[in-house]
Amino acid sequence: MKSSKTVTEKKLVPLAVPDVGEEEINEIRKVMGTGFLTEGATTKEFEKMVADYLGVKHALAVTSCTTGLHAVLECLDIKGQEVIVPDYTYPATAEAVVLAGGIPVLVDVDLDSMNMNTEILEEAYNDKMTVFSPVSWAGVPLEKEIYQKAKKLDLKMLEDSACSLGAKIGDDFVGKIADYSCFSFHPRKVITTGEGGMITTDDDEIAERCYSFKHFGAKGSSFETIGTNYKLSNVLSAIGVIQMKKIENIIQTRIEKAKIYHELLSKINNIKPAYVGENTRQTFQSYTCYVEKEEHRDKIRKALSDENIQSQIGTYALHLEPAYRNMKKIGNLGNSTKLFKNALTLPLHKNLTQEDQENICKIINKTLNN
Ligand SMILES: Cc1ncc(COP(=O)(O)O)c(C=O)c1O
Repeated sequence: MKSSKTVTEKKLVPLAVPDVGEEEINEIRKVMGTGFLTEGATTKEFEKMVADYLGVKHALAVTSCTTGLHAVLECLDIKGQEVIVPDYTYPATAEAVVLAGGIPVLVDVDLDSMNMNTEILEEAYNDKMTVFSPVSWAGVPLEKEIYQKAKKLDLKMLEDSACSLGAKIGDDFVGKIADYSCFSFHPRKVITTGEGGMITTDDDEIAERCYSFKHFGAKGSSFETIGTNYKLSNVLSAIGVIQMKKIENIIQTRIEKAKIYHELLSKINNIKPAYVGENTRQTFQSYTCYVEKEEHRDKIRKALSDENIQSQIGTYALHLEPAYRNMKKIGNLGNSTKLFKNALTLPLHKNLTQEDQENICKIINKTLNN
């Protein structure tokens, strides 16, 4: 029987809810009290917390993951060079390449992990390339072999790990394994500063260049190169300092709720639960499942929306977007296209109850199988 309540009268189940509250407000208040609001001691504290957490030499706070990727690519000087990026990603990954004067080469991804893999890298690689930029999308770590393959090819790896702070391969954190990694602190990410990002690396030289780049090209008191302003303020870093204290709890909660979805969705025909890799820890920054029945993903989204439940697609197949249509591509990007059409991201946050999850899965089952 149809409920007589209108959509807006029904309980809203949001897609994402940032885990922020009084503690973050108090920390911001402390910064306000110092009168020093731009990048400073709190930014340094936040950077140190991230560096210590990952076990990495350098963590440089920036205004977003996108600006972090741009800074690294500028400092690696990729002008005129082809840089492999997955087609299935948020535009930021490719945009950073273009901003730094490089040429993105769009490659396909694995249909299960939704990430590019070693085979895809090998197929797209040519010996003029010096850098590539894979994505550990939704907080699913890349396969271990791709890091080893990159070393063999003498290819520097800039991982777009926007979604992966806290993800691990074995005991190693994502952010420690690639040559350079960039994280996002957008409110839908694992931890947030409102907007913000972090570059991590063990490479002293590139860390120094990135530091200069994000400070207008300054080196000491002179300006030796052209840079820009990608500094993260003390105000936003204050949120980050508290978020880093919470990160393990945030991830544990996400993993527990992802397990519940996995169990519920495993019993439903025509849908594949979110990917679970072996010997890794995922962040489940997005809980993204795959609708196997063609042309049903959007029907499910509509049915959920009618119950005031938010959902999202997975991410974009860049080659289908106007700005990317003429870019170089390898292969037919078939998996990326399928994921763009059929991947479905479900609500996942601390306020999501088991009852909400059961209800969501019931609606999915009804839409797919009745
Ligand atoms: C894979 C990926 N990279 C980069 C970004 C951009 O991050 P930011 O908003 O911090 O620039 C996103 C944001 O959704 C993303 O999903």
